[in-house]
Amino acid sequence: MNKKIAVIKGDGIGPEIVNEAEKVLNKVGEKYGHTFEYTDVLMGGCAIDATGVPLPQETIDICLASDSVLLGAVGGPKWDTLPGNLRPEAGLLGIRGALKLFANIRPAKLIPALAGACPLKDEITKNGLDLVIVRELIGGAYFGERDTHVDENGVKHASDSMAYADYEVERICRVAFDMARKRNKKVHSVDKANVLDSSRLWREVAHKVAKEYPDVEFQDILVDNTAMQLVHNPAQFDVMVTENLFGDILSDEASMITGSLGMIPSASLGEGTLGLYEPIHGSAPDIAGQNKANPLATILSVAMMLRYSFDMSEESDAIGKAVNEVLADGYRTGDIMSEGMKCVSCSEMGDLVADKI
Ligand code: IPM
Ligand code: MN
Repeated sequence: MNKKIAVIKGDGIGPEIVNEAEKVLNKVGEKYGHTFEYTDVLMGGCAIDATGVPLPQETIDICLASDSVLLGAVGGPKWDTLPGNLRPEAGLLGIRGALKLFANIRPAKLIPALAGACPLKDEITKNGLDLVIVRELIGGAYFGERDTHVDENGVKHASDSMAYADYEVERICRVAFDMARKRNKKVHSVDKANVLDSSRLWREVAHKVAKEYPDVEFQDILVDNTAMQLVHNPAQFDVMVTENLFGDILSDEASMITGSLGMIPSASLGEGTLGLYEPIHGSAPDIAGQNKANPLATILSVAMMLRYSFDMSEESDAIGKAVNEVLADGYRTGDIMSEGMKCVSCSEMGDLVADKI
């Protein structure tokens, strides 16, 4: 098969990690007889520098005309003082919105070889961690009305509104329940229904959808309790579905249990097969350009691309297996380094994984 991939390398370590992901993807193409055609497009800080805006229309057009989108990371101190709507992050929200990617899938799995990098005690992780966070991606506080103003007394105010419509909750809940059916048949719907109206709507709709999936065990859980349970008994979770901001925060927390933010891939999906694939970590400006970054989250993101956008599950599994083997062989980037392991650079890690394909 021939697939067109729009590539947003982005800022900071973005270009380095994306290069390694392309290296692995090319190897998959060679082995399984596919060609992947890449078109680089601008988004984030590099787009601001080149065009004055974080998300040029041309980028949206090329992404929409592609079979999927691969993204490294955007942002950095250079652009931190720009107004909110002109920051690199606005480009990221813009592309998620423009492609209508409402479902963000973030799997967090504790790989046995990395158990040493997990900061929790063995007695807490002895039953493992294998969960998927299904994060609503184009609603809530990220996309609600916002305002910053100074009132007549000189007091400055700012607000963001966390808004949801029933159909937005319904479609993301369906994604979660469908996913649970293919896994361990358990869904936790995470909300703050004891305080927020938007969460009370969320809970009402989640219960309605749950009735259609009697084979899936279903439970509501408050977001603060979820944060606590994640580090108390992470093995209790299978699929977690939640709104945009809660999902952002909980996925960083879950990632740390796997050893590093540098290990977690993500897929952002809409109604069709076009998806955007990116690591959940940021652009790590402090180590950019030093060939030190961990490319595994991006490599695992292309594995998700193969599965969800291209229906190539065998090829996807081959990447997952290659990553596990390289880790089992003792190779580590700095972020997941522990005693007795072999520390490798970003490009060496990419080579090692590609060689195992
Ligand atoms: C993520 C990131 C983004 C988000 C930022 C960079 C806007 O943290 O993908 O989790 O908050 O969604
Ligand atoms: Mn985040």
